[in-house]
Amino acid sequence: MTKFMRGVATASLFALAAGIAPLPAAAQQQTPAKAPWSNARLSPDARTALVLAQMTEDEKLTLVFGYFGTDFPPRNNFKAPAEARPGSAGYVPGIPRLGIPAQWQTDAGVGVATQGGAARKRGRTALPSGLATTATWNPDLAFKGGAMIGAEARASGFNVMLAGGVNLMREPRNGRNFEYGGEDPLLAGTMVGAQIAGIQSNKIISTIKHYAINDQETDRDTGNSIIDAAAARMSDLLAFQFAFERSDPGSVMCAYNRVNGVHACEHPWLLTQVLRKDWGWKGYVMSDWGATHSTAAAANAGLEQDSGFPFDDKPYFGAPLKEAVAKGEVTKARLDEMASRILRSMFAHGLFDHPVTEAPMDLPPAMLAKHGDISRADAQQGIVLMKNAGDILPLSPSVKKIAVIGGHADKGVLAGGGSSLVYPVGGNAVPGLEPKTWPGPVMYYPNAPLDAIRRQAPGASVTFVDGTDAVAATTAARDADVAIVFANQWAGEAFDVSLTLKEDDLIAAVAGANPKTVVVLQTGGPVLTPWAGNVAGLLEAWFPGTQGGDAIANVLFGKVNPSGHLPVTFPRSLDQLPKPSAPNKGDTRYTEGATVGYKWYDAKGDTPAFPFGHGLSYTSFGYSGLSAKAAGGTLAVSFTVRNTGKRRGMDVPQVYVSGAGWEAPKRLGGFRKVDLAPGASTRVTLTVDPRLLGMYDEGARAWKIAPGSYKVMLGSSSRDVAQTVSVRLGARTLGVGWRP
Ligand code: BGC
Repeated sequence: MTKFMRGVATASLFALAAGIAPLPAAAQQQTPAKAPWSNARLSPDARTALVLAQMTEDEKLTLVFGYFGTDFPPRNNFKAPAEARPGSAGYVPGIPRLGIPAQWQTDAGVGVATQGGAARKRGRTALPSGLATTATWNPDLAFKGGAMIGAEARASGFNVMLAGGVNLMREPRNGRNFEYGGEDPLLAGTMVGAQIAGIQSNKIISTIKHYAINDQETDRDTGNSIIDAAAARMSDLLAFQFAFERSDPGSVMCAYNRVNGVHACEHPWLLTQVLRKDWGWKGYVMSDWGATHSTAAAANAGLEQDSGFPFDDKPYFGAPLKEAVAKGEVTKARLDEMASRILRSMFAHGLFDHPVTEAPMDLPPAMLAKHGDISRADAQQGIVLMKNAGDILPLSPSVKKIAVIGGHADKGVLAGGGSSLVYPVGGNAVPGLEPKTWPGPVMYYPNAPLDAIRRQAPGASVTFVDGTDAVAATTAARDADVAIVFANQWAGEAFDVSLTLKEDDLIAAVAGANPKTVVVLQTGGPVLTPWAGNVAGLLEAWFPGTQGGDAIANVLFGKVNPSGHLPVTFPRSLDQLPKPSAPNKGDTRYTEGATVGYKWYDAKGDTPAFPFGHGLSYTSFGYSGLSAKAAGGTLAVSFTVRNTGKRRGMDVPQVYVSGAGWEAPKRLGGFRKVDLAPGASTRVTLTVDPRLLGMYDEGARAWKIAPGSYKVMLGSSSRDVAQTVSVRLGARTLGVGWRP
């Protein structure tokens, strides 16, 4: 069962689990100074072998079994282990006798979360959503954000962060799209990989999740993602692979769903063949909370840690695993390997040498202020200016009358719901909205756009109406120089969303009353924008994090020149999607294969509302001098970008490639975020990963690049190509384990 499906377990089952994993008396452990594995000059493998040789079977079993870190009354009145950090996602006891530290686990990708049921919440810094960070197309910023939330995790006493969501956006209605990196494998893998690397720079472990093909929330526990293996390698798995190569995550979290009929956490092909044999990864797999469904099958398939007891129907590791080892259903060697992989990641990522300590619930205000700056910088670069007719934006500070409408803009900015929810310092700015319990509460961070707008236009009369009364809204709009409508759609874990905004009629009415209408969206992912033709300005602010109100106002008034680009396609209508009537329960057949996102629209020759890669600026950029060279099988692309406008600004030139017989007319092959003063230019050189130039052949277990002519395109979006050149590539075959 997942957190969403609450049930009741029997007392004996919990006793069984707890019986095999005796909790240590002390929460802190120090590696005995004389222990040979305390020698940091030895390799993680050598240190692992040394400590493993000293471990009893019960100690190994302790390492592979995790507890929920928060009391959970619906499950037989489950009480979190006393040593768990209060209100946390998970806890795995350490082995004090050997100096093996406990694993203190916290969600998730935007910062240090607190579980819904916790009595006290930690006030922490929330980054903008994962999709917002991806929309920056700036891996350096993603690294910085990761480093920041990882620092808060360490400062909060955690050494495992359950971050790294990189599920490809196949289904725009997926309620968790906000946690992920969009629809393109290169972009998602690059950005999420950079964030994981940033988190792990704090000498803690980050997961990468949810492995794999967990692309909708409807029926997530039993739903079955049916996909061709080669197509998966070229899409969802490729996003994971790129992220792995950029970050070497200590742990993988396997997903709730089934893949081609088999649950992801007992899937030998996914967990052993692909992850370890093909990609050569050395970390450990932990289950999502309640995603384990068997003992021997899961352990033998490649699951190392059964997480979050009591979320499974019953404990599968712990006592049942001990029994399975006794019966020979799981070999002693496999149990050794399970414990070894966990220990190896703990050594490799600094958990032994840089122990975390028990931490106060509150962080120093100076730290939070510094971290707020990082969150705001991320939000500002992730906001996408989608439309700017008649240069309505940036607003002049001398504008006289502004009507701000809706979206609780007088109170704060929206956050995504579920296990990843970070509670802010200052509490929920709009308490009491439904649902109040998990995956709620619906959270508004107390950084109100209205206040920030007022600060930026001190001479203006800025009125606010809440948008519930269309007459009041249109009256305010008619009376103003400019109307700014905030349209928010909450999204979260364990449910999917509709692409239709409840504010559609309001926006249409306001735009009818005043053509100088700007819409600011706060959404988890793409939505339908039937009114887009009638508004002058459109900003997508996603879920913009704890400093989101300031970030939005800074972009509206031009203190910040927008530079975000869409990491996802905005459809014109549902019938443009591969599955217009999904998400459904049961089997989801991904017959579109690797033709995901913009590739689908390109393949169908269909025009979306706003294409992947799109994003405007208050300045303009020109591209020239595109050249492509293939030397020694490597495709290098160079070009010049010039700021042809009057303001400093950042651009994201994008390189797309096109080959014969591919799943789609083009693929993103590379991108670079550049910062240019007016009139300045820069020469950019990118290399295209050769796996993006070939087709994966599952029979041959190889990427095959066909000899011939390829098109290389340079553009400001997937649909706005400025220059094209052709290049000849020779035949090349890359084994399944190839990496740069
Ligand atoms: C989510 C995971 C999360 C875990 C621990 C699950 O419900 O799917 O992403 O890390 O809970 O809170």
